[in-house]
Amino acid sequence: MVSILNIFGSKVVFFNGFFAEFLKTNEYQNLNLIRTISLVILLIYKVSNRYNLTFSRIFIPVLAKHNPYHYLCSMQTKWYGEDFRLGVLGGGQLGRMLIQEAINYNVYVYCLDPDPAAPCSHYAHGFTAGSLQDYDTVYQFGKDKDVITVEIEHVNIEALEQLEKEGKKVFPQPRVLRLIQDKGLQKQFYRDQRLPTAPFYLTENKEDVKKYISEFPFMMKMRKGGYDGKGVTPLRTETDIETAFEVPSVLEKMVDFQKELAVIVARNEKGEIKSFPTVECEFNPKANLVEFLFAPASVSEEIENKAQELAKQVIEKLDMVGLLAVEFFLTKEEELLINEIAPRPHNSGHHTIECNITSQFEQHMRSILNLPLGSTKIIQAGVMINLLGEEGFEGKAVYRNLEEIMSWEGVHTHIYGKAKTKSFRKMGHITIAGENLETVKALGLKVKETIRVES
Ligand SMILES: Nc1ncnc2c1ncn2[C@@H]1O[C@H](COP(=O)(O)OP(=O)(O)O)[C@@H](O)[C@H]1O
Ligand SMILES: [Mg+2]
Repeated sequence: MVSILNIFGSKVVFFNGFFAEFLKTNEYQNLNLIRTISLVILLIYKVSNRYNLTFSRIFIPVLAKHNPYHYLCSMQTKWYGEDFRLGVLGGGQLGRMLIQEAINYNVYVYCLDPDPAAPCSHYAHGFTAGSLQDYDTVYQFGKDKDVITVEIEHVNIEALEQLEKEGKKVFPQPRVLRLIQDKGLQKQFYRDQRLPTAPFYLTENKEDVKKYISEFPFMMKMRKGGYDGKGVTPLRTETDIETAFEVPSVLEKMVDFQKELAVIVARNEKGEIKSFPTVECEFNPKANLVEFLFAPASVSEEIENKAQELAKQVIEKLDMVGLLAVEFFLTKEEELLINEIAPRPHNSGHHTIECNITSQFEQHMRSILNLPLGSTKIIQAGVMINLLGEEGFEGKAVYRNLEEIMSWEGVHTHIYGKAKTKSFRKMGHITIAGENLETVKALGLKVKETIRVES
């Protein structure tokens, strides 16, 4: 086969050399892959003969598009140890939980975050304080990293695109981040791809909103910059127009849902896809923030399968590498609508640390490092409670009654190490895990009533 490849010029000779190197490495001696490549070449040869086409006329374009060389390149030979650097844009709690898993893999993590006291600052192998939105800061940060990922999507895309052009691996890909940063583009993507989502209009300012008064109620969402319920406001009556945003926004029909569900799905460079069982989220109506999460979701098998299937479709249609959280509304008519997506570890996957064979953080790493994806099977049922700063308290955090809840079986504490608490700020989370969802739900309610984050 190697001699056949030789005929097609220097590009292939280069491949040829690489192929020889590949055969020599013990770590990746993958006979199935070699067999597959040989079979594909044989098939192309047969087809070209059958239709009287010269082998090279078919082979070269096919090679250019589905180049086994690219495939082989996508298999990293080294992804651990001090010679390999994983850069993470953002140094918050998600990055911190990623580092906990990275330690097991001996992956060296470097973080960039504007806050010098960010939760990752003491734990990352290297920590840079700087803006995530500034082109130069992000570009300089990424230049000496091998793979770059994010724990927040509001980052400078142009710098990531440049790094990608220079051969760095950036996962999720900058084009995916660009789409997800803008809720308007995100909604258009669902519509174009025929993925189910609530009807919507795009508006430029408050004045625009008035055109749609007859169709109220809506949920208005800023196209850019919103997170954790910030940048989302309900418009039910005409008087609510007062609170409408003056910036480009999505005006989304209010959904009368029975439940909010979420599926976390991962995809690696080889195209392997795995998703976690669906979970159910209960939001704090005042803060629009997840208050309780129940895993697994209490839904019919049909809804479970549909949610899993939709999550897989979304990541495939995006052609994305990495971890993707897909938030759904389950309507009272048992219809699933996609609310929004997040291309990173997500609040709706924290329970996976204790409740699933592989945690979402480990899966994120496996997906961006092109490793085999881990099993997402459930080990035990779980309830996750976000520890939100009590309303009206600001300052150094005090966790009231923490020791008491920690004496209860199945209670797992996660404190993010944020210097100051504020109203509704995510300060940590508690996972209550056990054999039976009903029991952990009951204990979860007790935990919720007992623990308080004050100052
Ligand atoms: N169209 C809608 N109808 C009803 N509730 C909604 C709608 N859109 C959002 N919400 C509520 O607001 C929450 C936050 O909105 P979301 O678009 O997910 O923004 P964020 O980026 O802040 O998470 C949702 O989880 C849901 O509870
Ligand atoms: Mg959301």
